[in-house]
Amino acid sequence: MPPTLSFQLQNIQQRRDGTSLSELIVQGLLSTPLKLPSLLLWDDDGLRLFDALTQTPTYYLHDKEVEILAQYANDMAARIPSGSVLIELGCGSLRKTGAILSALERKNKAIDYYALDVSPGELSDSLATLTARLGPSSGVKVHGLVGTYEDCISWLAGNPWPQKQVDLVTLLWMGNSVANHGQLEASSVLGQFARAVQGAGVPCQFLVAVDACQKESRVLEAYDSDQEALREFILNGLRHANTIMGRQMFNSDEWDCVCRFDAHDHTLRVYYTCRMDTELTVDGHRLSLANGSQIEAITSGKWTVGDVQQIAKRAGLRVKDRWCDAECIYCETTICPTLLFDTNRGRLLYNDCRLSLL
Ligand SMILES: C[S@@+](CC[C@H](N)C(=O)[O-])C[C@H]1O[C@@H](n2cnc3c(N)ncnc32)[C@H](O)[C@@H]1O
Repeated sequence: MPPTLSFQLQNIQQRRDGTSLSELIVQGLLSTPLKLPSLLLWDDDGLRLFDALTQTPTYYLHDKEVEILAQYANDMAARIPSGSVLIELGCGSLRKTGAILSALERKNKAIDYYALDVSPGELSDSLATLTARLGPSSGVKVHGLVGTYEDCISWLAGNPWPQKQVDLVTLLWMGNSVANHGQLEASSVLGQFARAVQGAGVPCQFLVAVDACQKESRVLEAYDSDQEALREFILNGLRHANTIMGRQMFNSDEWDCVCRFDAHDHTLRVYYTCRMDTELTVDGHRLSLANGSQIEAITSGKWTVGDVQQIAKRAGLRVKDRWCDAECIYCETTICPTLLFDTNRGRLLYNDCRLSLL
């Protein structure tokens, strides 16, 4: 008999007009430069293929984060108080999360942990593996949330814990996923999360992992488009697009992928590229693409310390702690509001993170 699951999946997806995945595909293909929504990469197959990529020897991001967690998970757990909520954004396979949850368990903390991701199938499997690792009397209560970052912001703004005293919400964002946004967009998203939590009257902080590697050869070795694991992961995005559009919009024989590192704005860009002249039909329009044409699939920022400080500052936040790997090319950072707003009394509370008061 399958074991009873010790967590519940809550669907927090909101219906929004004009932003369904099929509409985003059409918008992206009718825009200049051409792009497809990065969400196409994250169906159940995509999550499995990404997890396989993270296990390849050149994908340093995974190893660096494991190294940091092995050394500093206790310090990070010390900054997450008992009676608080931990929400992991874009949790993926949850391979690394266990290190933080185990550290919280060792400190006997009572924590409500929420794992957010877009794909219910993989989220359920990953949570089943994670909860099996936690002890039966663990103070860490596990919950699953199915939805996007946008859905999560709306869910938080609606005050999901009306009956409960929540001391702090920590938003955990691992795997350099925050940097799948451009820098301006990242400030906007961080600010929206902070305002949603604080608007519900609860202080918040972020624990964010950022890949700061500026060495082009190292980055391109990790994202090597000649490597099967990367190609499979990226090209699955086109299969997913076909499924969403309900027709063979992209013929897989005609497509490849390519990666470029832009040292100027510290960003890796991944493109679908066509291997021959091809035509796409998009919303009744015929789009002629010459051999070698590119469609942006996803970007991955490689942000310096200064970039992260600027991103935080623009969002009304500030960097508080940093834990780096031995080479200093990857780091976990706590980011806190510079100002906290007391919604009950309608005034600013204090100009530092709640953590410094613990
Ligand atoms: C780079 S992977 C990182 C996975 C995991 N956090 C790790 O450290 O290995 C990005 C994750 O974010 C999720 N994701 C991407 N876009 C998202 C969105 N708009 N809303 C919620 N999750 C998203 C993906 O499904 C995927 O699990």
